[in-house]
Amino acid sequence: MDAEDKGHRHGNFPNYYNFHPPQNRLLILEQCGLMTYIRRGLVIGADDDSKLGDDGSKLTLPRKKARLDIAACAAAVGETCSIAVKDDIIYYCDLGCNEGDLTIAMALSLRKAVHHNKKQTVRCLGLDIDSKLIERASNKFSCKGVDDKEKEEFMPVFKDCNLCSGDAHNNACSSFFADSTKTHQEIIPRKMFSLTTIFSTTMWIHINSGDDGLTKFLERACGWTKKYLLIEPQHSGCYRKANVRLRKMKRPEIDVSAERLKMRNQIENEIEKVVTGCGFRRVKIDLEADEQVDDVRTAWNRTLQLYERTEIDED
Ligand SMILES: C[S@@+](CC[C@H](N)C(=O)[O-])C[C@H]1O[C@@H](n2cnc3c(N)ncnc32)[C@H](O)[C@@H]1O
Repeated sequence: MDAEDKGHRHGNFPNYYNFHPPQNRLLILEQCGLMTYIRRGLVIGADDDSKLGDDGSKLTLPRKKARLDIAACAAAVGETCSIAVKDDIIYYCDLGCNEGDLTIAMALSLRKAVHHNKKQTVRCLGLDIDSKLIERASNKFSCKGVDDKEKEEFMPVFKDCNLCSGDAHNNACSSFFADSTKTHQEIIPRKMFSLTTIFSTTMWIHINSGDDGLTKFLERACGWTKKYLLIEPQHSGCYRKANVRLRKMKRPEIDVSAERLKMRNQIENEIEKVVTGCGFRRVKIDLEADEQVDDVRTAWNRTLQLYERTEIDED
């Protein structure tokens, strides 16, 4: 990575959360019911928390802030979860975690719900290509918001890892589980994480490793995920803008043409094809008039796609 790119080649922006506070995305996830849906699927006793916010209180929703119309949008929480068994440890993995603010906000949202039942714990792993960001994440969050008694239970792990490399990705996940469970873990994708998130990272992997690299990355992420996969892909227009920024900085551009990146024009659909091909279904959102939509969009026009594994785990 070249510092002169200032994050515009890999998305490794420093101070990212000064501009994109984690609460932006958490609120939308709460508003549309996707966070509730995830908690219901993972947290013991979370079946009645449809109105709970991440601090366990009732949510007051600033409707105008988000593009989403909360009145018209309640998640399909009536649908039965395909996998009913809830694990004692909720393993959460955030791929492309930057400085970890959103990772920790997501993990805390799960952990606070878990706290009501005391029967479960949350453990989380954040991976990012930029070792400086990982160092900042580790310094910021190794103990933050967690008292001593709970430190061991929750201690988040942040590791630098180039997710374009299958070996690096698989090694990072395997060693996380080896350390967590104090057992030897095979370095092959296994359905281990209850929840995996990929927020605004697919484009960087796509432009740097092509269609094949993105497909293999998504397949690996699916392979490591036991239950839910939440993806916020950058849409096609973001690719062009990334190059415009490089051009303005007089840095070498990246070939983001449709000839090289055949998945780009329909990137959201292409990602869905790969993930559903790996044994997941897209969680739909119910509109009031019995209409279903796939897309929850952020205020900056990116979709938040939630997938749920449909195969019963036979491992
Ligand atoms: C735009 S930031 C998004 C950060 C965070 N996921 C969020 O949405 O708040 C993209 C992140 O992906 C990371 N990234 C890009 N390419 C990567 C790769 N090949 N392996 C691991 N991380 C990568 C960048 O370093 C950066 O932190």
